[in-house]
Amino acid sequence: MESFNIPTGSKQEIYASLLPQVQAVMDEKADIIANMANMAAMLHETFGFWWTGFYRVIGGELVLGPFQGPLACTRIAYGRGVCGTAWKERRTVVVPDVEQFPGHIACSSASRSEIVVPVFQNGEVTAVLDIDSAELNTFDETDAECLERLVRGLEG
Ligand code: SME
Repeated sequence: MESFNIPTGSKQEIYASLLPQVQAVMDEKADIIANMANMAAMLHETFGFWWTGFYRVIGGELVLGPFQGPLACTRIAYGRGVCGTAWKERRTVVVPDVEQFPGHIACSSASRSEIVVPVFQNGEVTAVLDIDSAELNTFDETDAECLERLVRGLEG
């Protein structure tokens, strides 16, 4: 599959249309890198985010995984930045204005707001989905709920 129907409409409608399309392209052997790569690509293309990608927990830190967008930092420590905070607190973190988030790691100065959603496997956080927007206040409860549902497709 090389293309998909890029959904339009309200944020809810877009996520509702995106979810089955993402599920449809999940690798049948559940290779996590393949699935993260397509999920990042579909989210990025649909919403036009600044940066969309994953960090995986490897050797006690977060290591850059599949992403779409500009160059990013390769490693993030536990509890550091928005990503490390979502990992430590085991919850989705919505940041309306990155300048107001103490310890935010600025991989790109164009990033203005951010959401980080943990991915769980067997009760442990094994990765995070990180999305950056070039606009303030991009993410809300709808994004949190829909992205949590979406990453469940990776949790196996
Ligand atoms: N801003 C993130 C770092 C990763 S980049 O945004 C891709 C953070 O504070 O954890």
